[in-house]
Amino acid sequence: MLKLSGRDFLKLLDFTAEEIRYLLDLAKRLKAEKKAARSDGRPIHGVSFQGKNIALIFEKNSTRTRCAFEVAARDLNLGTTFLSPEGSQIGKKESIEDTARVLSRMYDGIEYRGFEQAKVEELARFSSVPVWNGLSNEFHPTQLLADLLTIEEHIGRLKGLRLSYLGDARYNMGNSYMVACAKMGMHYTACCPEEYFPDIELVKQCQSIAEESGGSISLSESVEKGCRNADVIATDVWVSMGEPAELWQKRIYDLMPYQVNEKAFSYAKPEAIFLHCLPSFHNTRTEIGAEIYEKYGISEMEVTDRIFESERSVVFDEAENRMHTIKAVVYATLGGI
Ligand code: CP
Ligand code: NVA
Repeated sequence: MLKLSGRDFLKLLDFTAEEIRYLLDLAKRLKAEKKAARSDGRPIHGVSFQGKNIALIFEKNSTRTRCAFEVAARDLNLGTTFLSPEGSQIGKKESIEDTARVLSRMYDGIEYRGFEQAKVEELARFSSVPVWNGLSNEFHPTQLLADLLTIEEHIGRLKGLRLSYLGDARYNMGNSYMVACAKMGMHYTACCPEEYFPDIELVKQCQSIAEESGGSISLSESVEKGCRNADVIATDVWVSMGEPAELWQKRIYDLMPYQVNEKAFSYAKPEAIFLHCLPSFHNTRTEIGAEIYEKYGISEMEVTDRIFESERSVVFDEAENRMHTIKAVVYATLGGI
């Protein structure tokens, strides 16, 4: 019997494949229910968390994660309070431990986007209500549920699929893809310069999980080998939130050979799909994109505009699925069945 009620959602390593499967199936059900819902004021999902409230704490900016939590909460009749990167006492005047104890007295669940994974783990340790990781430097677990759902919707299964991640494989997205693939019996390849390979202890841990699930974990400096027969190619920005802007020059130099482009896809299966958690630098229509173009003459970074806008790109399905999967996490951990 699965026990998700009352649980934290901090990283996929804490969940079994069966539990992840349950959350994906629940998200599918909630997605179908929402699409079919009548707007007559009754709870869309037939269950009401009326009278319950959740806190949404963001120490870094967000579009998708914040909106996904807010819309999911609204659909479940949950109240929300948003605490912005500047707007709370957390860490500055009040410890994580005290914050957890205060918020647990008022809220039924807490979303937290911050820096080190240790912070969200500490918040969860001192909270008496479920804590959901909305992104840390090390992991982005709600994003991966959306990615798995999107892969399944487009390819029809997860087990046995080959997913290649190009870019900085040591950070939240690379780590999270590696863990998700290990858990779900998929073949993961981190494709980047050796300096960007994930932490060896995490690689070993994922390799041992993959041995059980029938998946595998590989690291490759060769785009040709790394993308060969891939079903899914994924990437992420080369400089993440909280990292210094001075890193751009080195990252562009190091990671440009690992840009997701037609060449990378030429090694993959013909029907392979493209994933990106977004936001993405695929043109110059952002402040940073324009600045990079001014400085380095590059108009597209981790993915070309052509791939981003192509049929194989399912990034907007992936973005929509953030909401359905986050709703599943909130629903299950708050005790909905
Ligand atoms: N993918 C993602 O987490 O997007 P936001 O930073 O906009 O929440
Ligand atoms: N690696 C990116 C992911 C954004 C969703 C970051 O941390 O900024």
